Parts: sequence; C-alpha cells; structure tokens
Amino acid sequence: MQCSYSDAGACRSCTLMGTPYPRQVEAKEQRCRELLGEQPMLQWLPAVRSAESGYRNKAKMVVGGTVRRPTLGILDAGGRGVDLRRCGVCTPGIRAALPVIARSITRAGLEPYDVPTRRGELKNVLVTESPTGELMVRFVLRSRQRVGALRRELPNLQRELPQAVVVTANLLPEHRAVVEGEEEVPLTERTTLPMPMGAVDLDLRPQSFFQTNSPVARALYAQVAEWVDEAAPADVWDLYCGVGGFALHCAAPGRRVTGVEVSAEAVESARSAARAAGLRDVGFLAGDATRFALDAAEAPDLVVVNPPRRGIGAELRGWLERSGVRHVVYSSCNPVTLAADLAAMPSLRPVHARVLDMFPQTEHVEVVTLLERSG
Ligand SMILES: C[S@@+](CC[C@H](N)C(=O)[O-])C[C@H]1O[C@@H](n2cnc3c(N)ncnc32)[C@H](O)[C@@H]1O
Repeated sequence: MQCSYSDAGACRSCTLMGTPYPRQVEAKEQRCRELLGEQPMLQWLPAVRSAESGYRNKAKMVVGGTVRRPTLGILDAGGRGVDLRRCGVCTPGIRAALPVIARSITRAGLEPYDVPTRRGELKNVLVTESPTGELMVRFVLRSRQRVGALRRELPNLQRELPQAVVVTANLLPEHRAVVEGEEEVPLTERTTLPMPMGAVDLDLRPQSFFQTNSPVARALYAQVAEWVDEAAPADVWDLYCGVGGFALHCAAPGRRVTGVEVSAEAVESARSAARAAGLRDVGFLAGDATRFALDAAEAPDLVVVNPPRRGIGAELRGWLERSGVRHVVYSSCNPVTLAADLAAMPSLRPVHARVLDMFPQTEHVEVVTLLERSG
C-alpha cells in the first residue's frame, strides 16, 4: 500500500507502510512464534490475513484548523492540526463521510479546540462504520455550550450523510490527552449501531470497545467458537467481554456463558444483543474481571480472556493457574504481555495458536491461543 501522508512525513502512524504485505504478515507471525517460544504441543494455524487497506472500522480524528477550514486528523508537534481525511487504512465509508462531517462543522460554527491556547470547543470526531454501511458519529466537545448548534445542524448532516444513524455529542471538559469524556449526549433517536458479525449481530453503543477490523474480528470469533465447541464446556466465562463478541459466539444449548466487562455501556450492548438473539443462558456483568474471578464460588470449565494491551496481570493469571479451569482461550493484541502471562501459567499449555492481522501497515497484531490444562 502507498500513502501520500506517510510519504510526505505528515503521518507516521503506519510504521510498516511500504513493506510488501506478505512480508508484514510473515514478520508478525515470526515475532509471535519467537515470543511464545518452543512449545511441544503447540500447533500454529495459518495466519488470517486482512485487506491491506480500507480495513479500519473506526476513525479517531483530532479536529484542528478553523471553523471555515477544519482539519480532521492529528496534531503536529506544535499542536496544530494536520488533515488526514483521506487516510487509506480507514474504510471507504469513513473516508467518504469525513469531508461531509467537515462541512457540518463549518455550518454549525463549531470552533476547533486549540491545544496551545486551550480555546475552542470541538476536540475530536469519532466515526465508526458497521459492516452494514451505517455510521456512528460522535463529536467530542469541551462543553455543553455548542450542543444546541450541533443539534440544529443534525438534519443537514443526515441529509448529506443518511448513513449517520447514531450521532452524539461527547463532553470532555478537561485539558487531557484522552480521546473522549464520560458524558454522552445522544442527538439521534437511535443510540445503537448494529454490527453483524456473521453468526451473531453485535450491538455497539458509544463508549464501548469494538475490534478494529470487522472481517478479521468475524474470523477471530468464528475460530474461538470452533475451539470452544470442540472443548464442549458446560460453563464459560468471557472476561473483558466488551460488547460480548466471544460470549455470544460461544453460546450453545446447555451451555451457560457469563461475560464480565468494566464498561457499563458495553455490557448494556451485550445484553441487548443477547436478548435480540434469544440467548437466555448468556448473561453479562459490569465489573472488574479479576475481582469477579477471585470472588467466584466455583470456577467454570473454560475461560476466554481478551484483555487490553497490559495483559491479564499477576492476580488473574495466578487464579487461572490454580483454578482447575480445563481450557483457556487467550486473545491478545500484545504478544509481549501474552507471552509473560503464559509463562506464569505453566499448567496451562498452548495447543493451538493463530495470528490474525487485525492492523495491516502497523506493527500491531492480534494473536489467539487455546490453552489446555496438563495432567
Ligand atoms: C481488547 S478489549 C476486548 C473486547 C471484547 N472481547 C471484544 O471482542 O470486543 C478489552 C476490554 O476490556 C475492558 N476492560 C478493561 N479493563 C477491565 C477490567 N479491569 N475488567 C473488565 N474489563 C476491563 C475494556 O473496557 C475493553 O472492552
């Protein structure tokens, strides 16, 4: 893939831009194999490849520039906006939406937030595209002051961009290096974006994590469902479950599945998807994954974990090692913390592993492994 922003040095996010795609995947596989080390029982399945461009279903664009000429992209070292609205790793639907959103910003008179002077209102625009082509568009504002202007602009935005079925204002009053704040003001009647994933329709609300690459996420959920079906557990936990992707794909008659996730919004999404699919034996709890495991009266037969980059940490891996759980499925976006967590659970041996190239053109990679208790 070629990228003019990368060629011009305007954006350095895609560190593998220019490296032939097959070589990127081989290098990621090699790195994962090295990090996990020699494992007598471990079989590596062929890597799941992605489209090398147009794969990102979510764009997190910092807004800079002026009301008349907003930039959507990143900030340079001096805190000024760099426009990346034609970013080629974003889905074509997102690329087509960004100029329309920029026009809306101008019409609504939303002054981009200026980091050096701490003035202005609009900080970021977050756009997610569903595999159906529908969009969730979130405007991250410094205060409530301009929510009215955004509300008045909404009919114009939706006339030009009818795919924008969920539109919100997110409030981030603090001057902090985070993408969004805690308060969400819905502007549309719909607050949920359906995310069909093949076997199951997931739901996405604001303030919830979703896997970055929809086709690769679908392959990941299908792979894990296959391993779980082969293990045939009666009781499954999905820790760090987000909107319930693994839990809902692992549901089966006679199997109880419990998802645990810290984001209440994500838990609500997971519950509504379970209801819509008529899955009665799948439940979700909002809370800390480690606390949930440590407080449980009984361990399940199988645990799926899909933590953030930091991994599952000492307490949860200690509990898993001691628990007697027969199978663990560990899906990780950071093979370094995955390797450290696995090394601390010697009773749970990796038997299958697979690299999924969720993030082409970058060093990042998803790797999923099935662990089986030895003895
Ligand atoms: C990599 S995402 C996985 C999401 C989900 N498995 C999926 O496929 O979409 C990690 C998730 O862990 C959640 N999380 C972070 N810390 C947590 C904690 N201490 N306890 C439970 N969930 C947590 C995040 O909110 C996020 O949804």
